[in-house]
Amino acid sequence: MPKPDNGKAGHLRSGTVEPNMTPNGYIRRWWKEAVVYQIYPRSFYDSNGDGIGDLRGLLDKLPHILDLGVDVIWLSPHFDSPNRDNGYDIRDYRKVGADYGTMADFDALMTAVKAAGKRLIIDLVVNHTSCEHSWFVESRTDAKSALRDYYIWHKGDTPPNDWTSIFGGSAWTRDEVTKDWYLHLFDSSQPDLNWDNLAVRDEVYDLMRFWLDKGIDGFRMDVISFISKDKTFPNLAAALRSRPQYAYTQGPHLHQYLQEMHKDVLSHYDITTVGEAFGVTLEDTALLIDERRCELDMIFQFEAVEVDRDQNGRWKPWTLPELKAIFTRQDKALDQHCWPTVFLSNHDNPRIVSRFGNDSETWRIKSAQVLACLILTLKGTPFLYQGDEFGLTNLTFSDIDQTNDVWTRNAWRDEVLTGKISATAFFANQDRLSRDHARAPIPWTAEGGFTTGTPWFALNPKFSSINAQSSEAVCLWYKDLIALRHRCDALIYGDYCDLCPDHPHVFAYTRTLKDEAFLILLNFSEQVQILSPLVPEGAMTLELTNYKDRSHVDNLWKLRGWEACIYRL
Ligand code: NOJ
Repeated sequence: MPKPDNGKAGHLRSGTVEPNMTPNGYIRRWWKEAVVYQIYPRSFYDSNGDGIGDLRGLLDKLPHILDLGVDVIWLSPHFDSPNRDNGYDIRDYRKVGADYGTMADFDALMTAVKAAGKRLIIDLVVNHTSCEHSWFVESRTDAKSALRDYYIWHKGDTPPNDWTSIFGGSAWTRDEVTKDWYLHLFDSSQPDLNWDNLAVRDEVYDLMRFWLDKGIDGFRMDVISFISKDKTFPNLAAALRSRPQYAYTQGPHLHQYLQEMHKDVLSHYDITTVGEAFGVTLEDTALLIDERRCELDMIFQFEAVEVDRDQNGRWKPWTLPELKAIFTRQDKALDQHCWPTVFLSNHDNPRIVSRFGNDSETWRIKSAQVLACLILTLKGTPFLYQGDEFGLTNLTFSDIDQTNDVWTRNAWRDEVLTGKISATAFFANQDRLSRDHARAPIPWTAEGGFTTGTPWFALNPKFSSINAQSSEAVCLWYKDLIALRHRCDALIYGDYCDLCPDHPHVFAYTRTLKDEAFLILLNFSEQVQILSPLVPEGAMTLELTNYKDRSHVDNLWKLRGWEACIYRL
């Protein structure tokens, strides 16, 4: 139900002491205290044997999610779509994709989530539509239609500039019907909407209200930082040619449109928003999430998940001090009016244990636990991705037919088929970075357990040994961490202090809120690490360790391979 006011106006009264303020100056909000769990519905659980995960399947597995103790489910696109980009190309914003079920299934899911006292947020994909959306179908066929201006068209023999698509090739495609060019910052099947057209913004606000009035609790907003375009269409600066996302976030009206959306829609509901801020620097983050600006509650900022990417987006080795420095810079860049997110994975990224941990048989479980501990004890709302609670690992590729992702397949076309790079080099990079790693269906059992039919995408061939049942230890650890976080304000709002920023293998930090404080010690290596004491050894109580106990450790500052400990100070 719509709410008249979400209370945000109260933030702005200067000199007023808010009753719901933490001792270090944060306004308490449910979404700051929540743990979010992302579902990629296609790969979660198939209830009807057609090989594709669906909403009924999600409902069947809801007990698992509830048991973990998370508060919010973020559902990746469940809308009608030709699925060129697995739902991030929407054909009808008000219709549930047939693969996923019906609106009745969505309503049943939402009702069950709410009945359990949890919340559901959905994806809002409005930088672009599918080329099969009725708006684009009319826009492209009738240059005189009012819908022509819903998209960004350019007349002429050549495109207006050299913008490239994030998924490879030019961002402009010449349409066969009128011979004009249309803009698509992603695949040519994903034409960009023209947000400068008020009618487009009104359509978007209407469809947002459609889902909000149904009772959803907010939106994850897909590449929301790209919605405003610089219509003078400058060429890309040389430094940004390999990472154009940093240019596409500089549209002149981004903040104006988000403030308008906030005023017209968001402010009328008790919901939350998290914007995918691809290409937004840490320096520009506050412009989107400072609560006094009334734009978004949170964003995904990409520095941490890009720690292993070079300037061209290819894999590069990363170091722990680099990762720590990013979290410290983020903490310093955001004051009490801004609230961060913490995430190391999603449907666009590899599996965390293969990327940041050690996915060998010996260390998979322990290193998955260390990463969970990091995500759930840093400052910011943690976003967990399905399957990371089972320590699922990456795939390996040696044939383009083993891949599904449109980005990968476009890159194969542009880089390998044109002879720019060898197939071996291509797959070496895909083994590190492919988006397909996270999209393989969840192995619920040693038999696979995802579907009774043929899965739409092959399960990781290791499923008989790496599956939900064999990895219960990781899952139980997530559960313990989530429960501890919920009990302790300091783990949510507490000040963050990195105690050994230069240590190459240990991440050690405190979280402190008035008289509650925690020390978190994480060994990011297989070797034993012995630290010099980092805090005075007063009365420290062990809250959690991912080893059986610490009784066999002679020195408090000694950490075994991939050991995680949380002490209360
Ligand atoms: C970001 C989404 O996370 C990704 O999966 C999608 O391909 C692009 N936006 C385009 O919508």
